[in-house]
Formats: sequence, C-alpha cells, structure tokens
Amino acid sequence: MAGSGAFAYAAPAAAAAVPPPIASASFGRAGDRNVEIYTLTNAHGLEARIMTYGAALVSLKTPDRAGRLQNIVLGFDALEPYLAGVPYFGASVGRFANRIANGRFTLDGKAYQLPRNDGPNSLHGGTRGFDKRIWTAEPLESPQGPAVRLTYVSAAGEEGYPGQLTARVTYRLGNDSALSIEFEATSTAATPVNLANHAYFNLTGDPRNTILKHLLTINADRFTPVNATLIPTGELRPVAGTPFDFRAPQAIGSRIEAADEQLRLGHGYDHNWVLNQSAPGTATLAAVLMDPQSGREMQVRTTQPGLQFYTGNFLDGKPAGSGTVFPHRTGLCLETQHFPDSPNQPAFPATILRPGERFSATTVLTFRVVK
Ligand code: GLA
Repeated sequence: MAGSGAFAYAAPAAAAAVPPPIASASFGRAGDRNVEIYTLTNAHGLEARIMTYGAALVSLKTPDRAGRLQNIVLGFDALEPYLAGVPYFGASVGRFANRIANGRFTLDGKAYQLPRNDGPNSLHGGTRGFDKRIWTAEPLESPQGPAVRLTYVSAAGEEGYPGQLTARVTYRLGNDSALSIEFEATSTAATPVNLANHAYFNLTGDPRNTILKHLLTINADRFTPVNATLIPTGELRPVAGTPFDFRAPQAIGSRIEAADEQLRLGHGYDHNWVLNQSAPGTATLAAVLMDPQSGREMQVRTTQPGLQFYTGNFLDGKPAGSGTVFPHRTGLCLETQHFPDSPNQPAFPATILRPGERFSATTVLTFRVVK
C-alpha cells in the first residue's frame, strides 16, 4: 500500500513529492510474525509513525519555530531495540496501565493474583503486557485526517486477568495539527481495565537535551501521594504550596530536587494528578507542555480522570540496541489514565469493565508553535 495512493484522498493531483496520508511498510519480524509500521502524514506535513508491536507511537514529527520538522518522542528507527526491551516507549499499555498493589485484587468475591514485575507490585499489565503484543492494524480514511486503528484480543486468563478483552486504539493525525488517541475495550467477563499511551516527549527535538527546562501546566488541584513502592496511599492531597503545583506554568526542573518526601519516593515526578474535569466523559484541558528553546507547545485534552506525570527518572543512558542512548530525564510522560491501584481503592473512579459495557477514552494532543 505504501505510496500506492490507496488512501490518498487529500493528495493534490500533481503532488508526486507529497507523501500519501497513510503508508505502511514492514518494520521487521518478532519471532515468526511480521511487524508493520504505519506512517500518517497530515495536510501540514506533521508525521506520526505507529507500529503494530505494542501499538506504539514510534515517532512524531512537528515543526519548531523555524518550521523545522523534528521527532519529539523517544523511539528507535528499528524494531530490534524494542524487542530487546525498552521502558514502554510510545506503547499502548494494558490491560491495566500503572501499578496494582502486590499484583492482587478481588472482584465479585474472587481473588486474583497477577505477575509482580515491579518490586512487590504488578506494573503496566504484567510480564508481557499489551506493549509486548502484536496488534492488527487497519488504515482509516476520514475527512478529519489520516488514521490507523489497532486491535488486540487478550485471552481470558492472560497475565492473570479474567475475561477475553478486545482492546482497540485509534491514532488520528488531524489536519488541525492534533494527534488524537482513542482507546476502546469490551470484555466477556468483568475485569479491571486501564489503557494508556506511554510516549516520552522531548519537545526540543533532540533527545540529548533533558526535559528540565520544559514549562508544564497541569489542570489539577490535587494529586495522589504514594508509598515507597509508588502505590497511592488513598489520599487526594491539594497541590497548593507543594512542588506538585503546576496550575501555572513551571519549569519542570525548578523544584524537582526540592526536599520533598513525595519527590524523594518518586525519584522525581512519577505521580498521578487528579484532573479538574468540566464534566465526566468530556475532553478537558489536562496539561500544556512548552519548550522555550524550540517554541513547540503541546496541549493535552482528555476524557480520562488522571494524569501520570513521569520525568524519565529510570532512564539511565545505557546504550540500547541501535546505539541511541536516552540519558536520565531526557523524556517525560504525560500518561492520561485512571488512577494507579484503582481495583484496590474503592474511592477512586471505577475501572471495572463488565460484559455488555464499552470502555472508551480519548486523549487529544494539539501542537502549535509559540513565537
Ligand atoms: C510509568 C511508571 C514509572 C515507570 C515507567 C516505566 O510511568 O509510573 O514508575 O515504571 O512507567 O519505566
């Protein structure tokens, strides 16, 4: 299909040099299975590449102040480093994004034990979560912009979770310079569900720079403090007067080394913010990220109740497969999702999906340049 023009609904007639809005190619093999990569290009030349391994965002190119297109997410240009193991770069994380305490929960009177792959806890769906599965992809034409929809069917009992879960993620690169990421899921039995994209952003376009000078705003009056294994204590703590107050733009590095118990436990920021929502189910402005150097700005809107802001504290600069290294704090995640450990915290927004119901969550990333 690459270059065939099969989806070239927006391409002008004499545009030989203009890439088609949707192209696909092989990205390599995982065992005996082929992994494909889809390239979405919008009317302004913004480009998003998504692979079927982990339904992951591999690269995202947006212009800086000078109009220069650069990749603003951490990733690799080959499949091998992903197979060798990366910390969820760009991935669609599930069946349950974030942590479940001791990998245990009780649902309808039955106790479940999940793999404990993060100290005592279960993290991001277990040992082989959705980030390590091959999804099936389908290109989608739409007047709003090129899109690709990926589907993964998770068998009942996979990674300890009940019910066969059908998960879908649709990436759409809008002609309004917005990348929307929509998750959907249905299940044959009651199960916890938390689906999130785990892209690491570096708006400078050069992953050798840290993200500490980025300015961040988070539309949240409260966050969920954690214990020593990063499980929420249950408290919804006001951000006012703490290094967690991002209600007005703040340089990420300005308070990250402050003497604060929560920053110490997180090794920096690695916490869930309780988003101020206008109405549940309506996409509300959750965060604004701005890099003064390049002028790039990203606005995050979401229907989700929480935002895990993570400053790449576990990135350690060890060389990865292709020779690219990602040093400490050279990428940051803004994971729109449900709160960590929700299956064990009845006061948190519910994460149980039952047969006949449909889970749906949309996050929209809008890009512009600030002069
Ligand atoms: C999430 C977690 C972090 C870390 C990263 C992956 O953001 O909250 O603690 O596990 O994923 O390294």
